[in-house]
Amino acid sequence: MSRYSRITGTGSYLPPRRLTNADLATELASQGVETSDDWIVDRTGIRARHFADPGVCCSDLGVEAARNALQAAGRQASEIDLIIVATSTPDMVFPSAACILQNKLGVAGCPAFDVQAVCSGFVYALTVADAMIKTGAATKALVIGAEVFSRILDFTDRTTCVLFGDGAGAVVLEASDTPGIVATDLHADGKHVGILCVPGHVSGGQVLGNPLLQMDGQAVFKLAVGVLEDAARAVLAKAGRTEADIDWLIPHQANIRIMQSTARKLKLPMDKVIVTVDQHGNTSAASIPLALDSAVRSGRIQKGDTLMLEGVGGGFTWGAVLVDL
Ligand code: ACO
Repeated sequence: MSRYSRITGTGSYLPPRRLTNADLATELASQGVETSDDWIVDRTGIRARHFADPGVCCSDLGVEAARNALQAAGRQASEIDLIIVATSTPDMVFPSAACILQNKLGVAGCPAFDVQAVCSGFVYALTVADAMIKTGAATKALVIGAEVFSRILDFTDRTTCVLFGDGAGAVVLEASDTPGIVATDLHADGKHVGILCVPGHVSGGQVLGNPLLQMDGQAVFKLAVGVLEDAARAVLAKAGRTEADIDWLIPHQANIRIMQSTARKLKLPMDKVIVTVDQHGNTSAASIPLALDSAVRSGRIQKGDTLMLEGVGGGFTWGAVLVDL
C-alpha cells in the first residue's frame, strides 16, 4: 500500500503589537522617513502588520503556532517525530530555531532542523516533511514557518520597511493511506542573489557586513509573477490536474498585485485566493501557514478542499504544493 502525508491540523500566532500603516507612518516620520497609508495600500495592499516585542524570538512565535496546530490535530507534542522550522530569522546562528522550539515544547529526541529558503521556506519545509513521511523516516511531523523580519528591516529605507511583519504558522503532517499532499514542485536559481538579500549578520552584538534587508522591488516583482505561474502549472501537471481543480490558491503573501497577477494567469477569480497580506504584511516563511490557518479557522477552507500553496522568495527560490485537505 502506498504511503502519503496529510495535514491533520493547522495553527498560527501573531505577536500582539499591531501597527496600522498610519501607526507606522507616524513612527517613521519621527525619524524623518516619509510614507503614507495611501502609498502602501495602493502599491502593496498592506494595511497593518504585527511586530514582536524586543526579546521575543522566532522560536517564541513558532512554539505558539505549533501548540495551536497540535491542538487542532488532537495530538500531543510527545507524539511528534519530526520538527522542521522554515525561517530566515532564527533566534541565533545555531542551534537551529527548531531545536530551541523543540525544547520549548517540552519534548526531546526527535529530529529537529531549520530550512532556509526565505519566503519559499514553508513550501520547501512541507516538501521535505512529505518526503520523509513517504519514506517512513517520520510519521507525525510539525512543519512551522516563523519569522521576526522586523529585526532585519532598515527603518530608514521606506521602499522595504513598510512591507514586512512578524508571525508564525504551523501544520501537523501525518502519514496516511491517501493523499494529502498530492504533488510538490521546488526550484532555485542562485544567480538572482543580489535582488533580495541580507548580506551581513549580527551575532553576539557584533555586526558583520550589512545585516539589513536590501531589495530591488521591481526586479523581484517581475521574477515572482513569472515563476509563480510556472510552479503552479508544473505541480498541476505532476498531479494530473488542472486549474479548475483548485478550490483555494494560497500564495505567499508579499503583495496583492503579485497575487492578482498570478490568479489572472491561472484564470482563478480573486474570491478563490486567500488574502491576508492586508492584515499581516509579508511575513516571509510564515505567510502561507498563517493564511492557511486563518482561512481554516474562519471556515472558508473546509476538509476535502484542494489547495494550491505557492512560495517565492530570496535565493531566488520558488515552489508549489498541491494539497487535498
Ligand atoms: N512611501 C511613499 N513613497 C514611497 C515608498 C513608501 N513606502 N517607497 C517608495 N516610494 C516612492 C519612491 O521613492 C518613488 O518615488 P519617485 O518616483 O519620486 O522616485 C516612488 O514611490 C515609486 O517607487 P518604486 O520603487 O518605483 O515603486 P513600485 O511601484 O515599484 O513599488 C514595491 C515598490 C511595492 C516594492 C514594488 O516594486 C513591489 O511590490 N515589488 C515586489 C517586491 C516584494 O513584494 N517584495 C517582498 C519580498 S520578496 C517576496 O516576498 C517574494
